Amino acid sequence: MNILVELRLRFHQALRTVVDDPTDLLDQVVPAQDPRFGDYQANMAMTLANRLSQPQRKVAEQIVQNLQVADLCDPPEVAGPGFINLRLRDDWLAAQLQRISTDPRLGVSPVDDPATFVLDYSSPNVAKPMHVGHIRSTVIGDSLYRILRFLGHRVIGDNHLGDWGTQFGMILYGYKHFRDPSQFAQSLVKELSRLYKLVNQLVEYHQIRQELPELQSQFAQRIEVLDQQQAVAPSADGAEQKRAAKRLRNLKKQVAEMRDKVAAAEKKLAEVEESPELCRLAEQHPNIGSAVLEETARLHAGDPENLGLWHDFLPACRQEIQKIYDRLDVRFDYEYGESFYQERLAEVVARLRQRGLATVSDGAVCLFLDGFDAPMIIQKSDGAYLYATTDLATIDFRMQTFQPDAILYVVDHRQHEHFQKLFAAARLVGYERVDLQHVSFGTVLGNDGKPYKTRAGDTVGLESLLDEAVRRAHAVVAANDDAKPDGPELDDDQRRHIADVVGHAAIKYADLCQNRTSDYKFDYDKMVALEGNTATYMQYSYARTQSIFGKGQIDVQRLRTLDSPLCLQHPTERALGLQVLRLSEAIAEAVVDYRPNILTGYLFDTAKRFSEFYQQCQVLKAESEALRTSRLRLCDLAGQAIRLGLELLGIRVVEKM
Ligand code: ARG
Repeated sequence: MNILVELRLRFHQALRTVVDDPTDLLDQVVPAQDPRFGDYQANMAMTLANRLSQPQRKVAEQIVQNLQVADLCDPPEVAGPGFINLRLRDDWLAAQLQRISTDPRLGVSPVDDPATFVLDYSSPNVAKPMHVGHIRSTVIGDSLYRILRFLGHRVIGDNHLGDWGTQFGMILYGYKHFRDPSQFAQSLVKELSRLYKLVNQLVEYHQIRQELPELQSQFAQRIEVLDQQQAVAPSADGAEQKRAAKRLRNLKKQVAEMRDKVAAAEKKLAEVEESPELCRLAEQHPNIGSAVLEETARLHAGDPENLGLWHDFLPACRQEIQKIYDRLDVRFDYEYGESFYQERLAEVVARLRQRGLATVSDGAVCLFLDGFDAPMIIQKSDGAYLYATTDLATIDFRMQTFQPDAILYVVDHRQHEHFQKLFAAARLVGYERVDLQHVSFGTVLGNDGKPYKTRAGDTVGLESLLDEAVRRAHAVVAANDDAKPDGPELDDDQRRHIADVVGHAAIKYADLCQNRTSDYKFDYDKMVALEGNTATYMQYSYARTQSIFGKGQIDVQRLRTLDSPLCLQHPTERALGLQVLRLSEAIAEAVVDYRPNILTGYLFDTAKRFSEFYQQCQVLKAESEALRTSRLRLCDLAGQAIRLGLELLGIRVVEKM
């Protein structure tokens, strides 16, 4: 049962006697901020009093009179100007906890009206190794997949692999010009990733050489403007002074950003120029940028050699990525990938032209969309199709194949504009009913507040990132075990297994517990810490519940089926019990705006409530057998809530830590 939903229902009935349609008032029934005032509170009396021009307290009292909650709450109280405070009855709470004890869903009901979701997540470009930037889409998408499914929705997970883009042009060019046959025979994937890096580096080198002078002169100009601004005598007018200060701040920020940009560009140039080998290659391949595009175009046109190589390379690339998915325990229902849609693109463009929706402008086929200055190009003048064309074809396919009610794209915030245009285009095409959502997220930053890189300035590969997290988790697990009062309990194998679970969980949780739209700082030490809002702390809390059962030699299955009422007399017992019952609310709220951090927040609170309870209440040495049993059952419920919540985030637990 979802207590909040139930209470809102009761308020709906009560308010109907006062207003015709109370729906918009119901979100003013909320969990209480301060437990001293109860468990929930309703604040709509004030709003309503304004509307009806009546005294606030009188309206509140009238609502309370009509409110039928006696079966679940103590008599409601009106406080202050008209807050209605609700406290759940202890016997009702105890009965609810009793009811969910044997329920694997812990009382969380599936939704009444299941919908079909297509979830587009992870979706890396497969020609290059996955890096830290791919964690977010993979992990957030996977957890949304699990949560929506758990709620009873039909969910189709589709990994929209980038398996057809310029990256393949790069490895094709690399293969043809720079391959090392012996390396190739040894490890295809390693060699491909070396080729990708090399070609990318040379392409960038030539591009930067062309663009740097312009960039430098823009930078110099900005500095000049800044100098001028700084030289202006301060105005006597206060408001003008403020505006000037703001201008100055903005300018300084721009200058700092440009300085970083110039420095990064110069660094890239230097990397090539300091290596005689790279210098030679750069000189020998002056037109590598356009040559790569030609290789891509040839692949797209069905050139037998390029297509053959693509067929050779793709399985290896996908295997490499699959290794990461296996480690992260992430699965998809489909992995169609961009290549799957290629044969449909011409038709998509032709149809849009036929229907008069697309127009040719400067030789390119464009969709002009309301609310956007620039059109969405769906075919370039040289005939090439674009990322957007594939995405349009993908929507067609998904609509026909799955008839979804919603398509969620879990993709980096930098693609905001792409998706806004895509959604506008989809509506233009006639997909008006499907709910298209860009579930966007911020950047993973290093300690310096800039995108997370290795010391050498490379993006960090996911594989090594996971290894490092596991290594650090091992240290934490070992230290914790060594410090146990009766000596260590874990052997080497156990420690390794636990470190593996804890390390992977740490990476996932550190990502999921962030408000997804913000950037966050990647910090190994914080993420494996035994205290704070970390997976490690949740896993530790769960393991603690299990160790209590171990110590007391408790048969948990039997415990769950006992028919004795739970005792919620101590405030920490009651708080923990109520917290367990609020799992439904957390899960429901997490999918409102697709935010797994609502669930991590719930878990953190649950772990804290459990720890407070365990500190203040004797469990195995409780005063009476009945109390001991009741407290053991609370431990079990807390453990189950944590385990289930973590499972919905794609995180496993361990029985011992
Ligand atoms: N492969 C793309 C990238 O790495 C992300 C694809 C997201 N999904 C989509 N349907 N466009 O940037």
